[in-house]
Amino acid sequence: MPAKPAAPIDITATPEWKALADHYAKLQEEGISLKDWFAADPERVAKLSFTTDDFHFDLSKNLVTDETISLLLDLARAAGVEERRDAMYAGEHINTTEDRAVFHTGLRRPASDIGKFIVDDRDAIADVREVLDRMYAFADRVRSGEWKGVTGKAIENVVSIGIGGSDLGPVMIYETLKAFRNGPACRFVSNIDPNDIAEKVKDLDPETTLVIVVSKTFTTLETITNAKMARWWLLDSLRKAGAIDGSAEKEAEAIAKHFVAVSTNLELVADFGIDPQNAFGFWSWVGGRFSTDSAVGLALILAFGKEGFENLLAGFHDMDVYFQETPLEKNVVAIMAMINIWYNNFFGFETHAVLPYNQYLHRFPAYLQQLTMESNGKSVRWDGSAVTCGTGEIFWGEPGTNGQHAFYQLIHQGTKPVPADFIAFANTANPIQESGQDVHELFLSNFLAQTKALAFGKTADEVRAEGTPEWIVPARCFEGNRPTTSIFGVDLTPHSLGALIALYEHIVFTEGTVWGIDSFDQWGVELGKQLAKQIVPALHDDEALAAQDASTKALIEFYRANRK
Ligand code: F6P
Repeated sequence: MPAKPAAPIDITATPEWKALADHYAKLQEEGISLKDWFAADPERVAKLSFTTDDFHFDLSKNLVTDETISLLLDLARAAGVEERRDAMYAGEHINTTEDRAVFHTGLRRPASDIGKFIVDDRDAIADVREVLDRMYAFADRVRSGEWKGVTGKAIENVVSIGIGGSDLGPVMIYETLKAFRNGPACRFVSNIDPNDIAEKVKDLDPETTLVIVVSKTFTTLETITNAKMARWWLLDSLRKAGAIDGSAEKEAEAIAKHFVAVSTNLELVADFGIDPQNAFGFWSWVGGRFSTDSAVGLALILAFGKEGFENLLAGFHDMDVYFQETPLEKNVVAIMAMINIWYNNFFGFETHAVLPYNQYLHRFPAYLQQLTMESNGKSVRWDGSAVTCGTGEIFWGEPGTNGQHAFYQLIHQGTKPVPADFIAFANTANPIQESGQDVHELFLSNFLAQTKALAFGKTADEVRAEGTPEWIVPARCFEGNRPTTSIFGVDLTPHSLGALIALYEHIVFTEGTVWGIDSFDQWGVELGKQLAKQIVPALHDDEALAAQDASTKALIEFYRANRK
């Protein structure tokens, strides 16, 4: 049993919190006007702009003054963000409720760091690099066609089965880096809804398909059920095509040549019938939602090769180094996180939009939902005591410009302000001119226009000047002061993507530290899992049905009456 750790400080009882509350009240009294703030301070943009290797960040359209930033950083210091960050980077057990180290930063450290980080009595970087080398060797064999399926054909398609952290990261990265793919095509199966796997395998040739089963625990119901369905599909289709006979030896050979696993539980991998030689491990110090750059990303190595994956890792690592080595006053990661606290805890804004102006990033908001909400959606702190303020931002989003034609109305004129991160890149993988117009420029002008409209709005006089009838004027006004951050990259590459992911990982960490919560456990997903297991028999068995609550019983009765 993990020992009870010391209580975090109650951040809301600190003088730094009080100073921010007073500052907030003062700003409300004076009135917040981005237009005025821009006019009064010609240095505002320069002061609130930051540069990293891959990105230019413009934070100037946030509802902050110089004083706000300084007070927010005082709060970060009072919460011990720097000390806890260093403890995390050193592989200490800061995941208190599970008594685990939190060392995902070790996944992307270079081989030159071997010998420098002993985590849980092992040389963590040596372990990481050993698994990476095995994965690269395996991927080389598959990509070159040396690795053959049971009928002697090379692998053309990969199906990666996992859920949550064992799926969202790999899917998002695969989709984002599609323009760089130079290996087999990958599909991802996550939902236990049989429609998912049925659709994903229906046009695949089992003779040229490799299945990766990705599960940290190798016990997750969805993943193991999908893996069994995939095993059945593979063997059944091979048998029906006459590619294998029904002998146990041939079936075992087919599994060995078409199934590999990624897990921390190699015993259960072997029980499933997958040769442990074809299993790639990771460690208890890698949280599921922080695992995409571990063996969990095996599909990515197959699709993009060693070079692509190493560039991704280097992007993560560069952002890790930036976050650790840049003083807080200049540290855009810490400042973005603290501005989120400002909105969440002082303004009371409830949600946070992430709006990538890049179609390849279309799964990025979904990925961030798990990263942020599974990490920081907590009501107790790391010592088990109740939180003392609101936690857990609600992240959501869609790529621009599609979102503009869906929910931006609410962001521009609704009653619930939504701080938003706008993400775009100066260059596109698909430069196209249409009737003399660079289409990427058309796209980028939307990225630029939206944050401008949100910040500066449109006054009644401006609307009137367009000849609008007086009674329609209010409907066409934009009050402005809707906060945004612009994250502008040079190119969307494996390196910049790694940096972008690490940016949000560290934002999540910083917010969690200020709130005093363990961002690395996820007890909140357990109850539903347990109940689902108990409910399965009630779908058929009257005694089990009788034990259900009235609402569940009624729903099951509806199911029983309508199941065909
Ligand atoms: O949803 C809970 C969770 O434990 C996530 O944290 C994790 O990413 C996912 O389930 C999958 O778990 P596993 O990799 O063990 O199958």
